[in-house]
Amino acid sequence: MTTSTSGSALHAGAPPGRPILEARELVAGYLPGVNILNSCNLEVHPGELVGIIGPNGAGKSTMLKALFGLVKVRSGTVLLDGEDITNERADTLVRRGIGYVPQNNNVFPSLTIEENLQMGLYQDPRRFIERFAAIVDIFPTLGDRRRQRAGSLSGGERQMVAMARALMMDPKVLLLDEPSAGLSPVRADEAFIRTRKINRSGVSVVIVEQNARRCLQICDRAYVLDQGANAYSGPGRKLMDDPKVIELYLGTLAADVEQAQRGVEEADKGERADKGERAGKGDDDAPGAHVG
Ligand SMILES: Nc1ncnc2c1ncn2[C@@H]1O[C@H](COP(=O)(O)OP(=O)(O)OP(=O)(O)O)[C@@H](O)[C@H]1O
Ligand SMILES: [Mg+2]
Repeated sequence: MTTSTSGSALHAGAPPGRPILEARELVAGYLPGVNILNSCNLEVHPGELVGIIGPNGAGKSTMLKALFGLVKVRSGTVLLDGEDITNERADTLVRRGIGYVPQNNNVFPSLTIEENLQMGLYQDPRRFIERFAAIVDIFPTLGDRRRQRAGSLSGGERQMVAMARALMMDPKVLLLDEPSAGLSPVRADEAFIRTRKINRSGVSVVIVEQNARRCLQICDRAYVLDQGANAYSGPGRKLMDDPKVIELYLGTLAADVEQAQRGVEEADKGERADKGERAGKGDDDAPGAHVG
């Protein structure tokens, strides 16, 4: 339920300890005098999978860009493992352990899969063999098809290459902007499962999604952004069951929610059986919270 409006409600259900990535009261925008983010807050704790949902134009992509140095932060702070990285350049942030996958134009179509992955490691090319092996462990198809041009791949396969490229530098935190966008329902489910697989390999993940229900199903916690500000936060499944969140942001009947949930759980069964749930993850008993 959505009861609390106090400070802790900003990060409802967050585990104790220092976040690996933290945004404090970010104000950011593109045009002079126009702020898109109006004091936005976000915490990602080590090993967490954190979702950001909200209406079109809420500022979700802008939030990721602000974290990754692609839009100027006018005030507020971004901290990586407690160190101030506000307005650092994107290439510096990659070196410091942040990976970012934009929604569009995220592969080099004329290059092969292998060359795309090399681009992801241009700051440290000597590690290619080691990192490529680690990536193929997560995405075996990429190894089989390493010589294929990225331009000839399907949308879902390109998305996989884009994620893999961002993983080449072995980031601590991966920022994903709508990995399921434009994909068929089955391919979208694969993108979500892949996201969770990456998370379970030890990478903290922030995922922005239009597909709010599926996002909430896989997340440890999520933030609802609305008009550039925090509206709700909490464990994914708590938000998914919250009547206010359903009414305002999920825009559908509970029956649809359950159906969607069944779909992902079915698709996910095999993976779960293989890997096993990571111990100690998520706090399903913590309530969601409205941020007033
Ligand atoms: N490059 C830009 N220049 C100026 N305004 C921009 C730019 N990019 C985004 N905006 C504006 O910032 C606001 C937030 O956009 P943003 O892309 O962050 O929203 P979003 O929550 O990601 O939306 P969507 O769900 O549609 O992807 C919108 O009003 C948008 O028009
Ligand atoms: Mg967006």
